[in-house]
Amino acid sequence: MSDNSNAIESVLTETRKFPPPAEFTKHAMISSEQQYEEMWNRAKDDPAGFWGDIAQNELDWFQMYDSVMEGDMPETKWFTGGKINASYNCLDRHLLTWRKNKAAIIWEGEPGDTRTLTYQQLHHEVCKFASVLDKLGIEAGDRVTLYMPMVPELAIAMLACARVGATHSIIFGGFSADAIRDRNNDAQSKLVITADGGWRRGKEIPLKATVDDALADGKSPSVEKVVVVRRTGGDVSMEDGRDLWWHDLMEDAVADRECTHLDSEHPLFILYTSGSTGKPKGVLHTTAGYLLGTMMTSRWVFDFKDEDTYWCTADIGWITGHSYIVYGPLANGVTTMMYEGAPNWPDEGRFWDIVEKHKVNTFYTAPTAIRAFIKWGDNWPQQHDLSSLRLLGTVGEPINPEAWMWYHKTIGAEKCPIVDTWWQTETGGIMLSPLPGVTATKPGSCTKPLPGVVPAIVSEQGEPLEANQGGLLVMTQPWPHMLRTLYGDHDRFIETYFSKFDGKYYFAGDGARRDEDGYYWVMGRVDDVINVSGHRLSTMEVESALVSHESVAEAAVVGFPHDLKGEGICCFVIPKGEIATGDALEAAQKELIAHVRQQIGALATPDQIRFTAALPKTRSGKIMRRLLRDIAAGRESAGDTTTLEDYSVLASLRESDEG
Ligand code: WT7
Repeated sequence: MSDNSNAIESVLTETRKFPPPAEFTKHAMISSEQQYEEMWNRAKDDPAGFWGDIAQNELDWFQMYDSVMEGDMPETKWFTGGKINASYNCLDRHLLTWRKNKAAIIWEGEPGDTRTLTYQQLHHEVCKFASVLDKLGIEAGDRVTLYMPMVPELAIAMLACARVGATHSIIFGGFSADAIRDRNNDAQSKLVITADGGWRRGKEIPLKATVDDALADGKSPSVEKVVVVRRTGGDVSMEDGRDLWWHDLMEDAVADRECTHLDSEHPLFILYTSGSTGKPKGVLHTTAGYLLGTMMTSRWVFDFKDEDTYWCTADIGWITGHSYIVYGPLANGVTTMMYEGAPNWPDEGRFWDIVEKHKVNTFYTAPTAIRAFIKWGDNWPQQHDLSSLRLLGTVGEPINPEAWMWYHKTIGAEKCPIVDTWWQTETGGIMLSPLPGVTATKPGSCTKPLPGVVPAIVSEQGEPLEANQGGLLVMTQPWPHMLRTLYGDHDRFIETYFSKFDGKYYFAGDGARRDEDGYYWVMGRVDDVINVSGHRLSTMEVESALVSHESVAEAAVVGFPHDLKGEGICCFVIPKGEIATGDALEAAQKELIAHVRQQIGALATPDQIRFTAALPKTRSGKIMRRLLRDIAAGRESAGDTTTLEDYSVLASLRESDEG
């Protein structure tokens, strides 16, 4: 189990409870415990009836489906026989209503430039770019890689892909050329869409140059063309016959591209995420179920009002941005904010400046960001008028109760409910969360399952556990927005999520407990996945990056509690030669840090490189990670044994512990 002992200690003793403010409940869409329980029970007992009613009323279909759900988990198919398009549901249908001239996206660039796209304008751009995709020979089912900054063109490109049925694969801008190459090859992408660069803390992130590197020397052979958005105006080299400017292509494009009628189960997107082995997993989501799930979960959890300005601060390169910046809000016809840059540029008040300027009502961010705000001081939020805020949300990792309290007091002025939302790339949408007008919140708990979600806490053997017993979090019933497969590797999909409990349950990979009130407390990952600033990283991925360096004989990577990031990355490295000292040691550490950044990307930057002559192992050769985690966390409890060599001995003594 992940070793965030401080966090676990504090949530175990947490007893504070905050009922939803009466004023909020009065206007909330779901406003009573009874209403929630009726929905939840119906969804559990009659999922086909529950989701079928919603799908009929809330989605626009070109052809109605034959059956709501077919087959048992993990092979459940949803809304089979139906024809639908996500782009139609996010755009076209709103043009038939008063929302036509409502802001769909309010965008703010890091340098302070802003753009607002109404539903009509966004539709226009999406239709144009969809016809560009046609011209480039992109067909339904083809894969398209997006490596872009947080600019409106990213949302336009996603919705244009959805319009023609191309499956988008978005790669977060913090990933390296090697990571792009691997993802291009795994998905067999035909097209890459990128930008010259993006702004981050006043500096230009060179996106196009990184794509060039990923494509050089035939490294991504499936890629035929590259479309480049001009954002920063920086120098880029354009390869003849391969690279095309977005604005040139759009100049001649006509905005008459209708939506392709796609099967409900047509692949909408692939999003790569880290698993417990080195190779990233291509999580595949399909059209109708995902769209329905993100639309309804965002409506329930964020209690959308038509007049809302809603801001999710995530990057669209992660699932949070896919589901809760783009698809969920737009399917609901809500105004969604998009911000390009860093929270501390030009100063640490930037987010609060945006909240004040755009009168943001709902603000959804991550615990790691909240911890940074706390560190920067109350002065920054206090300089701004945050009275427009009505609802606050958090996602990505367990929130420590003190950060929760700060958020509640300093940002929410004790009047905004906080929704702590637990979910995953694989679940597509929020699974466990308070309903802001209903659920009394407890700091550190993501509270209860949404309608349609039937979780359980079970032992390693799959037996249900009693209240307050720590165990594994599983889902016992399928839901419409769950992943359908890992792209190109269905066996790994079954193995990763369903083999632990013989196909009976979806295994999330998290440890959790349920308290006496039925509230869930998620403790963190139980596999070799660490959560760095709300981003999932496999320790094995970092290990493979390290051992690919010529100077490294062996490496073991573990997470350790980190004040800002949640977990930091600690690397134990056995070098091929002698362990360096002094300046040479520092140089060797820097070299390896740079190497990992090059192999994976800046998001995997190690916090510590510790050279060692040995690693503690069991007799069968398994690295004893628990000991390494203790050392990395500074928990050197076993007497005076402080060096790794000592632990090595300890390890062989404790061998049976590790199993
Ligand atoms: C893992 C999923 C889903 C959006 C962002 C991360 C952890 C996520 C919470 C929360 C406790 C959380 C879990 C989960 N996690 N939200 N509210 N409380 N833990 O997506 O990269 O797929 O990571 O993030 O460990 O398994 P992801």
